[in-house]
Amino acid sequence: MTAPHRTTAILALAAALWLAPLLAARQTVALKDLMPKGMVVGVALNQRQSDGVDTAAVDLVTKQFTQISPENLLKFQPIHPADDRYAFEAQDRYVQFGVDRKMQVIGHTLVWHSQTPAWVFQGKDGGAVDRDTLLARMRDHILTVVGRYKGRIHGWDVVNEAIDEDGSLRKTPWLNAIGEDYIAKAFAIAREADPGAELYYNDFNLEKPAKRAGVIRLVKSLQSQGIRIDGIGNQAHWRLETPSIAEIEATLLDLRSTGLEVMYTELDINLLPQAARGADPSAANPYVTGLPDDMQQALARRYADIFGVFLKHRDAVSRVTFWGLSDADSWLNRGRTNHPLLWDRQRQPKPAFDAVVKVLQGAR
Ligand code: XIL
Repeated sequence: MTAPHRTTAILALAAALWLAPLLAARQTVALKDLMPKGMVVGVALNQRQSDGVDTAAVDLVTKQFTQISPENLLKFQPIHPADDRYAFEAQDRYVQFGVDRKMQVIGHTLVWHSQTPAWVFQGKDGGAVDRDTLLARMRDHILTVVGRYKGRIHGWDVVNEAIDEDGSLRKTPWLNAIGEDYIAKAFAIAREADPGAELYYNDFNLEKPAKRAGVIRLVKSLQSQGIRIDGIGNQAHWRLETPSIAEIEATLLDLRSTGLEVMYTELDINLLPQAARGADPSAANPYVTGLPDDMQQALARRYADIFGVFLKHRDAVSRVTFWGLSDADSWLNRGRTNHPLLWDRQRQPKPAFDAVVKVLQGAR
């Protein structure tokens, strides 16, 4: 080895020795040990994680979280691809992953307009499906899927994203074919399939007053019909500046006024500009080589503020779930390079992780 190379090697070794305990110390702090009583912290798993293939991710998930959600596996398309065919192999592994670790296992999701195969909404004559046929399909689906995991899945997102931005019922094939009572029916069937499971309604953009009002109307209508619902999931796909902390807090209090548990079910912070068509590609994807320090700090402050609200109203919040483990796993990349989570692409904790830890430690 030549002298300059030797110097570089020695410096690198010294840096590694100096950094290693610091990194190790940071990694030994676990979110799950810092959460207040009654609030669980979880993460959405992709299939490589629930299959156990991504072993580094499995270790990190096991160390940090006490709850898991399935990013895709339990949606209609993957679990029930054809009328006469269910797929349970990878799905069973997902549930077992949580059971083995005594984690709270969530089911996502039974009735949604997206990621649902076309056959569900097709009638026998090739036209649109009729009410009775679709109700029968919904019933078979819910009884089969919820029934299979009875006693092992703690809670289900029974209906996902059924309210439009103006607060009306979203015009989905479920609504078109069955009518307004499809949501009540879905909850009643899920209750029948597993009376012990918690049942939730889940949606995004709840900080928008009109949409939130629509969700609250829906919840109250279910309650007035004697249909039990246990919680409202606020997806919490948020950005750096929006919604404001005041809006997040007001939304929490409004949702809580229904008497239901409030959960943050898909938390992430999108740092990329809204992609404008024809825009300069580097402007649309500014952090390809990494997140600059000022943005790291801004993300850290954002997460600290958000957890500040959760802690201030800790009695109202039963769960916080991140939608993905590390930045490499996030659905928000979609061909660009996003940095929305607490761990970076090398699965190292970001300043945002430290900021959340600090807020949680301060509240203990
Ligand atoms: C997303 C997944 O993360 C992606 O992998 C998939 O391609 C599309 O769906 N709201 C939801 C989640 O309820 O199921 C969505 O998950 C994100 C938006």
